[in-house]
Amino acid sequence: MWDIERHADLANRFRRELEDGNRVTYLCRDGETVCGEVSLIQNMDDPDYTVPGKRLYVSHLMVRRDLCRRGIGRALLRHAIETAREWGYAELSVGVDLDNFPALMLYWQEGFDNILYIGEDDGGRFVKLLKRL
Ligand SMILES: CC(C)(COP(=O)(O)OP(=O)(O)OC[C@H]1O[C@@H](n2cnc3c(N)ncnc32)[C@H](O)[C@@H]1OP(=O)(O)O)[C@@H](O)C(=O)NCCC(=O)NCCS
Repeated sequence: MWDIERHADLANRFRRELEDGNRVTYLCRDGETVCGEVSLIQNMDDPDYTVPGKRLYVSHLMVRRDLCRRGIGRALLRHAIETAREWGYAELSVGVDLDNFPALMLYWQEGFDNILYIGEDDGGRFVKLLKRL
């Protein structure tokens, strides 16, 4: 669904995190076709994003471009939220670029309504959001 050769560093990090159990990834599939993905991360080395046993981080929510706006992103996010609850976590965090209006709308609607931080990195201005479960 995304170009892992072009984003080799990211893909390698994700692979390591999957192997060591820090990352759990859920796919939305139509047969063999992957339509979307979302991951939960236990340790981001950032106390805004993860707190052991308390706060998990939502990573790489993504829907195939031609399948956007059909409810897949919301369904994936709700699955991540339910899973975090089942695992006994109290909070979920996410980082969103401030120019990513679709994602900001979706997270806000799903209860990520606590702003932890607004800042800037190489990718531009972004916000860290928190949802209490
Ligand atoms: C953000 C993303 C995952 C949303 O997935 P999606 O399947 O299109 O989302 P849904 O169809 O479930 O829509 C849920 C809500 O998101 C918001 N939304 C989604 N696309 C939108 C758009 N183009 N413009 C405005 N709001 C939008 C709306 O509030 C929408 O609710 P509504 O349809 O009732 O108005 C998708 O746009 C995507 O993959 N973007 C690229 C990757 C990315 O930015 N991921 C987030 C990283 S933090």
